[in-house]
Amino acid sequence: MSKNIKRIAVFTSGGDAPGMNAALRAVVRTASFHDMHVYGIMRGYEGMIDGDLKRLERGDVGNIIHRGGTILKTARSQRFMTPEGRRSAYESLLAFDIDACIAIGGNGTFTGAKVFTEEYDIPFIGIPGTIDNDLFGTDFTIGFDTSVNTAIEAADKIRDTADSHNRLFFVEVMGRNSGFIALNTAIGSGAGSVLIPETDTSIEQLVNALKKGARRKKLFSLVIVAEGNKNGNATEIARKVKEAFDFYDTKVTIIGHLQRGGSPTGLDRVLASRLGFSSVEGLIGGEQNVMTGLVNGKIKYTPFDQAIAEAKELDNDLVRMAEILAM
Ligand code: F6P
Repeated sequence: MSKNIKRIAVFTSGGDAPGMNAALRAVVRTASFHDMHVYGIMRGYEGMIDGDLKRLERGDVGNIIHRGGTILKTARSQRFMTPEGRRSAYESLLAFDIDACIAIGGNGTFTGAKVFTEEYDIPFIGIPGTIDNDLFGTDFTIGFDTSVNTAIEAADKIRDTADSHNRLFFVEVMGRNSGFIALNTAIGSGAGSVLIPETDTSIEQLVNALKKGARRKKLFSLVIVAEGNKNGNATEIARKVKEAFDFYDTKVTIIGHLQRGGSPTGLDRVLASRLGFSSVEGLIGGEQNVMTGLVNGKIKYTPFDQAIAEAKELDNDLVRMAEILAM
């Protein structure tokens, strides 16, 4: 058991992700069940620095489980990267008598938490909330499933028009430096090819695959492009492909921030509820400076330095399967 934790603060930080509200709801309700007081910090680390905290009761998190975005707002804080910023944040937490913090966010959020907890004696627990699914220590991050569903829905619509006009579409999806969103979107939308940061597919290989398709009388095609792939953005890739093979009329769609919004899927709501619940129960059980995650269906706590430093590998079997199914 840890020291008696009676007052906790919770915040969302970094890029928002569908399901953050569901996680927040679970944190507040679990903490209330254990007679803890919960404070919500507005705008992530920015609000922590500014002392922008407000009491959250059970009723304050009603009617939010289905809402995208985050009712606490979020930010990417430059000030928290400075020792002065972190000192102000610590003073704010002291002023509100906060015993522990729960951070809902991604890599940058947990990097901040790791530095802060090395400097100050306030324990943190992290909840993985990012559409990118790029955190080691959890099979899925909150928001990933919703984001993939949004991208697949968009790709389905693009497929209709691509088919009608015999066009080649390059559809760019987010994911920062990882290809989880792109690979899963490609599989789920039946795309012809996918370009992800984890593989070295060159423009030449892509053109060869498109030529092969054209020889089989494939009159349209979808290529899913991860924003972090090595060949450039979708517009640059489309131009290079067009130069090498102008058989198709070529178009580009960048799905962009559409993937970050919207009502969370059932999977994301359940995941967020489980991780919110386990963050509070973990704290009570003595977990500190770790991220709660779901590994093979079970809750697992992973130290921050491991969660942010270790690369989460894409499943090579999935990559191979995507290639075979697209042929
Ligand atoms: O980390 C989530 C994410 O949506 C990435 O996929 C993307 O690269 C980035 O955030 C975009 O950030 P911003 O909304 O700050 O432009």
